[in-house]
Amino acid sequence: MTEGVPKSSLRGRFITFEGGEGSGKSTQIKILADRLNAAKLRAIVTREPGGSPGAEIIRHLVLSGMGKLLGADAETLLFAAARDDHVHAVIKPALEQGIWVLCDRFADSTRVYQGRLGDVPPGVLNAMERVTIGDLKPDLTIILDIPVEVGMQRAAARRGNAAPDRFESENVAFHQKLRDAYRDIAADDPARCVLIDANTDANTVATNVWTALRDRVLTTDATREVTRV
Ligand code: TYD
Repeated sequence: MTEGVPKSSLRGRFITFEGGEGSGKSTQIKILADRLNAAKLRAIVTREPGGSPGAEIIRHLVLSGMGKLLGADAETLLFAAARDDHVHAVIKPALEQGIWVLCDRFADSTRVYQGRLGDVPPGVLNAMERVTIGDLKPDLTIILDIPVEVGMQRAAARRGNAAPDRFESENVAFHQKLRDAYRDIAADDPARCVLIDANTDANTVATNVWTALRDRVLTTDATREVTRV
């Protein structure tokens, strides 16, 4: 597709958003996509589990609680199968065409939900990552951090009368561990991750997301113009 052209000059940027329930990921991704598009950078928004037709079918299965019945290892395999399809059908082709990919959750979600909370050993997760994502590493991972009670209240308000999904129905202790796990990932990989306080209004969070992007990603010739936006 991009034969003869150095990949680095054309490749889109891969930005992932992570965080607990009610942290505002989808709002922030949309704001960022609009901002990039306004700056004439092509960007798509996608999500995990899901994002490609095959992976959306698996999403339905896991969020219905079906994966939980199979046990943590098998549930992890379902997330990995979904990721494999998503990476190969959507993410890599877009990046190769120079399109930015903004992804709502990615491999860190597996590390946190299945690894830290589901006790799936790191060796198993490493093996699955080798197969599904290989050397595809996000250029930047935005981790939205919010106190558990606030996030759970927001998620409940958004849900209305609908039943909570597989993970929303877990208790406060689960969500606290989740938050701690994300904070640890941010501390362990500061070159890739930025932890952003999401316990404030959406505009302030969006400004902080943009600043992180500007300082860490929009530094090459191809994208420098955008920093003036
Ligand atoms: P979703 O409705 O997309 O929720 P959210 O708004 O919180 O992103 O549900 C996705 C759920 O799947 C979420 O609770 C996290 C969980 N999940 C995993 O357990 N492992 C994974 O690898 C991924 C991508 C998601």
